[in-house]
Amino acid sequence: MSEIGLTVNARKRVVNVDDDMPLVWILRDTLALTGTKFGCGVGVCGSCTVLENGKAVRSCQIPASEAKERAFVTIEGLSLDASHPCQRAWLEEDVAQCGFCQPGMILTACGLLRDHPNPTDEEINTVMSDSVCRCGTYPRMRKAIRRAAALLREQKR
Ligand code: FES
Ligand code: FES
Repeated sequence: MSEIGLTVNARKRVVNVDDDMPLVWILRDTLALTGTKFGCGVGVCGSCTVLENGKAVRSCQIPASEAKERAFVTIEGLSLDASHPCQRAWLEEDVAQCGFCQPGMILTACGLLRDHPNPTDEEINTVMSDSVCRCGTYPRMRKAIRRAAALLREQKR
């Protein structure tokens, strides 16, 4: 066990965990931030996605020893009232079905829009096909990403 300091949702936290504990479990079990979901555990489904400096990263692939001194944003930290453009767009397009993959999908979309404020269909498809939605909400997600991109551009005006 080691004492690990990290920042989550702009709040400094110190946790006592095994060095190899993946960040997804630090978030869920130690910090009770259960919006981050555990799916495959091997970096392929995207359900554990969080943001680091605006970039989408997979928390099941970051052991505690590497999470040390880094700062992450989970779905709980995106906004307090679901007012972030990605959350608004998701609600307006009624994307979620069972909801399991959705926190990871929303944060993946945020990462995409950071790098591509006006993404092409191909860019959207490439990023989204890297994440798994068992309910097949991909068409609604694509619409929501376009809507979120428009909302973000409006915000910047
Ligand atoms: S649980 Fe991390 S990518 Fe699937
Ligand atoms: S909404 Fe059910 S897995 Fe994506």
